[in-house]
Amino acid sequence: MLRTYVFLLVALYCSDGVLSKSLITPCKIEDGACIEKSWIAASEQIIQGIPELGIEPADPLFIEKIEGNLSTLKYKYFNTTIVGYKNCRISDVKVSNDFKNYHYELNIPELKLHGMYEMAGRLISMSVEGKGEFFQTTGNYKIIVDAELKVAPGDDGKLHMAIGDFKLKCYPLTAIHFDYRNLFNGDKDLGDAVLKFANESWEEVANLTQDPVFEAIITKLNENANKLLKFVPLEEFIIN
Ligand SMILES: *[C@@H]1O[C@H](CO)[C@@H](O)[C@H](O)[C@H]1NC(C)=O
Ligand SMILES: *[C@@H]1O[C@H](CO)[C@@H](O)[C@H](O)[C@H]1NC(C)=O
Ligand SMILES: *[C@@H]1O[C@H](CO)[C@@H](O)[C@H](O)[C@H]1NC(C)=O
Ligand SMILES: *[C@@H]1O[C@H](CO)[C@@H](O)[C@H](O)[C@H]1NC(C)=O
Repeated sequence: MLRTYVFLLVALYCSDGVLSKSLITPCKIEDGACIEKSWIAASEQIIQGIPELGIEPADPLFIEKIEGNLSTLKYKYFNTTIVGYKNCRISDVKVSNDFKNYHYELNIPELKLHGMYEMAGRLISMSVEGKGEFFQTTGNYKIIVDAELKVAPGDDGKLHMAIGDFKLKCYPLTAIHFDYRNLFNGDKDLGDAVLKFANESWEEVANLTQDPVFEAIITKLNENANKLLKFVPLEEFIIN
């Protein structure tokens, strides 16, 4: 069903501060390699930022609040800065031929997160509680995104796509290091025991805690992509 439709040939050139858009060589229907290449080019523009469209650079990415309401663990991250997104690779891009589904895969070599946290609950077998500064360095991550697309007329009267709700599957592939300061109100023995456990059981800990973080990241990235989609009508993405 997810027959790949043609995507995406957009290049945005900024010259002398004037933004102009231009289509690169169009892709043939079902030319997966062409589609992928095109979307990578567009994604790189989005990640670098396009000030003329109000798209801020995605590296570093700043997220004011991330809230994890898990059944056994509640956590909040405030003012989180996330570095490393510019090294990610997008692949396996598919748009269904009814323009209702958009699928892609992200491969992220490493992300460094830094911010303030609050957390209370159970981290698998360990009780955990604390509030302070945190650092987290991920290893390689694979993220599979399945999003809804909507098509509606824009301000220019032409049809535009927009990315809507999405589902994620997140796979941590290599070790993650956790450094959460001031756990248990600064009790170093208790805090180090939790961090040692988290470092050693990184995959299990990541599986438990990662989804709200990546939901916040992907929401932000999709918002940026939607600014571009609002600017570029559907008719410039498709070839008949
Ligand atoms: C998490 O739970 C709190 C308190 O129940 C609620 O106010 C908040 O909206 C929830 N956040 C999310 C992201 O679900
Ligand atoms: C996040 O940053 C804002 C603006 O600098 C600041 O007012 C707020 O206190 C910060 N939040 C935390 C939990 O540090
Ligand atoms: C967890 O891993 C980080 C990064 O390797 C390291 O700095 C830290 O000392 C480790 N913490 C514990 C308690 O093992
Ligand atoms: C983490 O989740 C993945 C995907 O659901 C699963 O394959 C893996 O076994 C889980 N790892 C651990 C340590 O629970």
